[in-house]
Amino acid sequence: MNSPASAPAPSQDEQKAQVGRAALAHVGRGDIVGVGTGSTVNKFIEALATIKDDIRGAVSSSAASTERLLALGIPVFDCNEVEELAVYIDGADEIDGRGYMIKGGGAALTREKIVAAQSRRFICIADASKRVNTLGAFPLPVEVIPMAARRVIRQFARLGGVARVRERDGVALVTDNGQHIVDVTGLRITDPLGFESEVNQWPGVVTVGVFAHQRANVCLLGTASGVQTLRFD
Ligand code: 5RP
Repeated sequence: MNSPASAPAPSQDEQKAQVGRAALAHVGRGDIVGVGTGSTVNKFIEALATIKDDIRGAVSSSAASTERLLALGIPVFDCNEVEELAVYIDGADEIDGRGYMIKGGGAALTREKIVAAQSRRFICIADASKRVNTLGAFPLPVEVIPMAARRVIRQFARLGGVARVRERDGVALVTDNGQHIVDVTGLRITDPLGFESEVNQWPGVVTVGVFAHQRANVCLLGTASGVQTLRFD
């Protein structure tokens, strides 16, 4: 007799869908929801569309997310129209055991940090591959004013990092804010709060992709055995 087959472990894509759906539990009736950017957030936006009549709308962190929200009939408010948001939901490139993150793989880090700062709680949604002990293996995105790029690259070299301007189709990628992204490898960020404060005050840096001052309050982590909830407050 055959033994019952156990369910296959969810793929990375399914883990993203699971955490996207799980994030709905953090959305309140009548909320304007802060919405991040990326493939995991795209799953959340799909889930959010199923309760769109229960919310007022969203504040978006990128042109890409705005387009998806509007396409699904979710009203998008300008950041300046809204005083405070109850919740911000976004993915991460890395998240450590204290809720500190690296973000910006989708080049939306500056707007993401603005909307996160405007929100009372940050709910990070991520698949298991994003959970790390120490930040820095993922190339750290830094949004820079183009004329400062070389100088910022030299400053990272002094810290032991190797930085390069992110390109798309052979030319420097331009962000929603009209700036460039420098990606830095070779860093091991043991003091995320201090590192974020330090790099953010270098001339020409718009935002560094370390989210320590705007860390996550909760991480919904997609794993092979389902969604795990990590709490950091
Ligand atoms: C975009 C981001 C994303 O949240 C981060 O890159 C994770 O993306 P994904 O969910 O596609 O893995 O910071 O700027």
